[in-house]
Amino acid sequence: MNTLIINGAVNENGECRKLIDIFNKNLGAEVINVYKENILPCADCGECRNGGGCVINDNMNNIYDKIVNADIIIFASPIYYSAMTGVMMNFLSRFQMFYLSGAKCREKRAALLLTGGGATKRTDYAEHQLKLALKIINAEYVGLTAYINTDRQSVIYSEETLRAVSELKKSLYGQNP
Ligand SMILES: Cc1cc2nc3c(=O)[nH]c(=O)nc-3n(C[C@H](O)[C@H](O)[C@H](O)COP(=O)(O)O)c2cc1C
Repeated sequence: MNTLIINGAVNENGECRKLIDIFNKNLGAEVINVYKENILPCADCGECRNGGGCVINDNMNNIYDKIVNADIIIFASPIYYSAMTGVMMNFLSRFQMFYLSGAKCREKRAALLLTGGGATKRTDYAEHQLKLALKIINAEYVGLTAYINTDRQSVIYSEETLRAVSELKKSLYGQNP
């Protein structure tokens, strides 16, 4: 299965990245770090309506094909103000190219990984945001693993999160990912 992991965290060795690494163990999926890719937000220019792709000349143009062809996409983000990070939202806004052009993506499944300091235990805003974007890329939402306690303890010590990741992987890949 062709898996793509989209990382919306700024900290290269932060808690979100650690959660990604837990998920990615024995998988070796490609991780796209959206902060590093310098992806601009959708300009809502509507130029993509004519089917010629997005006219913004940035790294997103190398990523569109990967999204089309992925079987599984994992979206990972720290929680900022109960939602995903701004750069992740910039990234998702570029799905407008698929929406306006009608370009079809391969049927796929998707899941969410979240870390939070603990200020709020809410994950529903982030889930709601993601689910809307997933409709556009023909992706079925499978579920999430959230660890919202990073102010107190690193995710790497959370046995509960290790188990939750393992369950999520089973839902996505079956018994042997
Ligand atoms: C701008 C900002 C907003 C945040 N908002 C929340 C929040 O609403 N709820 C929460 O639990 N943690 C919040 N946090 C804490 C981060 O989610 C937490 O530190 C997370 O583990 C950071 O992941 P990282 O180490 O990969 O950067 C916020 C942090 C920042 C910088």
